[in-house]
Amino acid sequence: MSVRADAWNAVMTAEPGEQTFDIPASAIEGELPRELAGGRHLQNGPGWTKIGGRLAHPFDGHGLVRSLTFTNDGGASYRARFVKTPAYVDEKAAGHLVHKGLGTNISNFPLSNIRAPGPRNVSNTTIQPWSGRLISGWEGGRPYALDAQSLETIGEETFGGALPDAAFLAHMRIDTGADRLIGCNLFRESPSRFIFREFDATGQQVAEREVTIPGMHFEHDFVATPRWYVLAGNPMKASLPKFAKAMLGFGSLIQALHTDDSKGGELYLIPRDRPGPVRTIRLPQRAFVIHFANAHDVDESTCAVELCAFESFEFGAEFGFQGPRLPLDPELPDNRSSFQKLYRATVRDDSDEAQWEQLSDYGMDFPRVHPAREGQAAPAIYASTRSNGSKSDPFDAIARVDTVDRSRPTEVWSAGEGQFVGEPVFAPRPDAGDLDDGWVVAAVYDGAAKNTKLCVFDPKALAKGPIAAVPLPLQPYGFHGFWQGAAAQET
Ligand SMILES: [Fe+2]
Repeated sequence: MSVRADAWNAVMTAEPGEQTFDIPASAIEGELPRELAGGRHLQNGPGWTKIGGRLAHPFDGHGLVRSLTFTNDGGASYRARFVKTPAYVDEKAAGHLVHKGLGTNISNFPLSNIRAPGPRNVSNTTIQPWSGRLISGWEGGRPYALDAQSLETIGEETFGGALPDAAFLAHMRIDTGADRLIGCNLFRESPSRFIFREFDATGQQVAEREVTIPGMHFEHDFVATPRWYVLAGNPMKASLPKFAKAMLGFGSLIQALHTDDSKGGELYLIPRDRPGPVRTIRLPQRAFVIHFANAHDVDESTCAVELCAFESFEFGAEFGFQGPRLPLDPELPDNRSSFQKLYRATVRDDSDEAQWEQLSDYGMDFPRVHPAREGQAAPAIYASTRSNGSKSDPFDAIARVDTVDRSRPTEVWSAGEGQFVGEPVFAPRPDAGDLDDGWVVAAVYDGAAKNTKLCVFDPKALAKGPIAAVPLPLQPYGFHGFWQGAAAQET
């Protein structure tokens, strides 16, 4: 294998397990910003994928939630715990795969796969503090509630019984102004059915909006402004022979998924907090959206939506997964016919056609903005990217895209060979007025040197590289994170 492939496999199969340790100030590279002391970087991602000698698809690895707190003495404190879902508990006891996943069969024997229980809720995708607990999200079922300090699993999160036993999008959104958490149930039917739900600061549901959208769609994320909920039109068609094969235990469900490239790009705008029909907005190109960056109401009749989209997307190369007995091949995503690019769609109330603008030439994903600016105009979008602009993920660099000064080129910092970069999150300077005043925090995984560093960047000088780094033993690649400031932990 190449140096890169070796390194990627080391990162994706790293299995440090549950850990609790402190990092003294003397071990910190550079100096952690004093203003961030007491705050913490939270992250979720698959932390156990090689199970009983079989490699699970990264989507199916057990969720390992990590919390890294910047301590008042200039050091840091680390804690990682698995989400104790039934799938985790069963497989920990058995020492092998028990539950069938989206991309994972438990055995080479079809009969065993048919009998394997599902769905495989591994709660490995997002981590969101809300109402004094941490909410761990996953695509196919209910989220899980974790104790905010110990990270121990409390149980399935139902928000006081509001959530049915159904798929709940892993991604949730915060409306800081209204102090609400917004989530969305997804019913994979045709027509597709969605129920947006809003929860107040105590976790009680205070709003609900159900909509149906024609056809089958793949949805992983949504975004909300004060006026709209926004979904992407990611039309799907199922391969019935491959679906039947998966049901008979010969293949996985993900192999039966196909995007419907006969349809053009669309967004769906759903009125929030007021009645009205779903608006279908046509885009000038096909757009398969995994992640939204942000959206905001430009004025009373215009909405801007920023998103990462593939012009065409094929399932099957995620993270270079090739099956349970083969190493991951990080070159596989480079073979896609298009890479994920960052765009802005501007939609007026009097037109169902969006203005469309590509915001960067780089392929990028995991886009994030200042957390207090979700649903409002944000000055910059931070994302993971590939330093070689003609290649796709796994990402090895961080990008800053200026959303206001469009003449400003994308700023990029590259980590170097054998290193991979996780989702960048924005950690605001407490009480800062400037919306770019704070730091960008991202994990950098060095699969060659076998270590991970949580790196802190000055967003005004991103390309200069980290101003501080917390050294950690090699951690498995995380999916999504969140910066929780010290003050937010007291409420
Ligand atoms: Fe995601």
